[in-house]
Amino acid sequence: MRKTVWVTGASSGLGLHTAMALRDAGWQVIAGARSFASEDAGKRPELAGMQLLPLDVTDPESITAFRKAALSVSGRVDALVQCAGMLVLGSCEETRPEEFLRVMNTNFLGMVRMNQEALPLMRKQRAGRIIMFSSINGLLGIPFQNAYTASKHAIEGYAEGLQMEKVPYGIQVTLIEPGDHRSGSDRYRLHGEGMSDGSPYADAYRQATEKIHHDESHGSDPDRLGRKVARLLDRRRMPFRKRIASPDQHLAVWLHTCLPDRLNQRILRSYYIKNEKKT
Ligand SMILES: NC(=O)c1ccc[n+]([C@@H]2O[C@H](COP(=O)([O-])OP(=O)(O)OC[C@H]3O[C@@H](n4cnc5c(N)ncnc54)[C@H](OP(=O)(O)O)[C@@H]3O)[C@@H](O)[C@H]2O)c1
Repeated sequence: MRKTVWVTGASSGLGLHTAMALRDAGWQVIAGARSFASEDAGKRPELAGMQLLPLDVTDPESITAFRKAALSVSGRVDALVQCAGMLVLGSCEETRPEEFLRVMNTNFLGMVRMNQEALPLMRKQRAGRIIMFSSINGLLGIPFQNAYTASKHAIEGYAEGLQMEKVPYGIQVTLIEPGDHRSGSDRYRLHGEGMSDGSPYADAYRQATEKIHHDESHGSDPDRLGRKVARLLDRRRMPFRKRIASPDQHLAVWLHTCLPDRLNQRILRSYYIKNEKKT
């Protein structure tokens, strides 16, 4: 019998590539995203062979409807792969509390809500696998990506407790920590409303966000990541953390654990901001 996986954020970027790899590996993929509410979604050739269901991870009613519809397709959920995410770029000083809330609500609480739908089913099955997409930013901060970094750090801490609680029920939890990968959509990379040209951080912000954009658009192959995640789900024991990143990003994480904090922050800052104009 084919195993069933629910994939959130499957309309774009790493969620899409992971869903495609799982389908190609023989999983029954139940794919969720807000844009799957549109009839046009069914015409996208890359989504062929998947069950597409509308899903907004910030909306409890949408999540309940997704669970019911998914269970009518398959009575099991062998795995839940959580990729839905977004970011709002901005300085700590000017990113609005509502913008922090929006990012936390999608990236962190969205995962909490989805887990709460899947866990009772997995507990009854006495088996299940949960993969949550964190990021290198779940391990270290970078300038002007603060709301996103906070949400990914929240996921990292939460996942540790989740895994410890779920051991007796045969449920395995894995954090995927991607470095930069191409194919993420600009639609989910918003600029904070406070980040005008008049911002005292305007010059540093421009430099850092250009670098962030450059690194992502020249990032690693998303298909390769998708296949790695599919292979991981086939293993008898999944690792708790799986970093999928370029050698320099592995190095950045290693230095973060070894170097004194101030030195590490100086190096990271100078990577993103070269010659800041003082205002
Ligand atoms: N790309 C990278 O370099 C990278 C690096 C590290 C970590 N990640 C993580 O990988 C995941 C995918 O990111 P990406 O950049 O590859 O893809 P992306 O192109 O940014 O796609 C984001 C996905 O999330 C969905 N989404 C957004 N808000 C949602 C909501 N409220 N409810 C349901 N779905 C929602 C979008 O679909 P709809 O708009 O159709 O709902 C879309 O499918 C994220 O968790 C991201 O943090 C990515």
